[in-house]
Amino acid sequence: MFAERVLSGMRPTGSLHLGHYHGVLKNWIKLQNEYPCLFFVADWHALTTQYDDPRGIEKSTWEMVIDWLAAGVDPAQATLFIQSQVPEHAELHLLLSMMTPLGWLERVPTYKDQQEKLDSKDLSTYGFLGYPLLMSSDILIYRADKVPVGEDQIPHVEFTRELARRFNHMYGREPGFEDKAREAVKKLGSKNARLYGQLRTRFQQEGDASAVERGHALLNEAQSLSLADRERLSGYLEGTGKMILVEPGALLTEASKMPGLDGQKMSKSYNNTITLREDEASVTQKIKRMPTDPARGRRTDAGDPEKCPVWQLHLVYSDDSCREWVQQGCRSAGIGCLECKQPVIDGILREQAPMHERAQTYLDDPALVRSIIADGNAKARRLAQETMRDVREAMGLNYS
Ligand code: TRP
Ligand code: SF4
Repeated sequence: MFAERVLSGMRPTGSLHLGHYHGVLKNWIKLQNEYPCLFFVADWHALTTQYDDPRGIEKSTWEMVIDWLAAGVDPAQATLFIQSQVPEHAELHLLLSMMTPLGWLERVPTYKDQQEKLDSKDLSTYGFLGYPLLMSSDILIYRADKVPVGEDQIPHVEFTRELARRFNHMYGREPGFEDKAREAVKKLGSKNARLYGQLRTRFQQEGDASAVERGHALLNEAQSLSLADRERLSGYLEGTGKMILVEPGALLTEASKMPGLDGQKMSKSYNNTITLREDEASVTQKIKRMPTDPARGRRTDAGDPEKCPVWQLHLVYSDDSCREWVQQGCRSAGIGCLECKQPVIDGILREQAPMHERAQTYLDDPALVRSIIADGNAKARRLAQETMRDVREAMGLNYS
């Protein structure tokens, strides 16, 4: 009924690092070839935790967009935009807030987790509680059916599905829907009407999926039904109304296995990152300073790559013959650690070269980035406005 569409957002954290590239961005770049994609900067989401100091958000946004472009996210294929520049997200958030049970929000696992983790901040705010609801609005307003997210965000997508179902159930119905549906059931003839009723009960009370399937088959075979009655009975069968908002599915992005400079996962909070556009001297220095297997105190001591974070990077950047050279040379003290690090340095620089090149175009001409985003904002806004028209109409708020 609706076109397949991918949507994902990222909070503006400033410069991205190679972990973001190997985890999230490479996946976006693959998806942009396969589906219509919308990628946006979730600047309002940043406000839920940074409301006390929002001034850095805009700068971080532009830096992050340049990193996306540098990595190869292609504005000719995907729509890139900024959440706050599509104010319809806020309208949908407000309307949905009216029918969102508080308990649903309080039960989202990130709510308590993040409050505990970021205990230096006061996150007992209305906005922070509403974080998943804002995310739902982001998703539902584009009727996106595919949402690539990391594991921590899966409960938010599940929450969004439940909310869409609740919305469709509440508002996706014409006035007098139940009566009209019951009238339509009679038109099935007494035998089929009884069967329909049984299937409907089995689905709605026991969640029996085969019952709903058989119910739809029965409706398809009922020649005498009008199109409108068939649609009514289909909604009545499932207990939903007309589909106004689309239930999204999550596309799980595998957790980045990108190791950082200390062997732990690469993450800003561990201070072990290399940024996407880090300059050559700094990359070289960071790798040269990496700790190695402590057993190799002297050049003549043999080591074990399994105990060395540099080896983790060889697993990302080196081919088989180089890895073989490392294994051999390390275990026999045939190579020194600096020597061993050189192919990693080369590998990272090779990966970054096209990113630097693409970024340079945008650094030389900031107006170009502004215009890519302005186009994206406008495109996103048109889609968002379409959905809002249907939402307002379903809720009886179109005042026409
Ligand atoms: N909450 C997401 C994160 O922290 C970012 C986000 C906001 C998002 N809105 C979204 C992701 C909509 C996917 C879809 O990573
Ligand atoms: Fe690590 Fe390479 Fe040194 Fe072995 S030779 S300890 S793998 S840096």
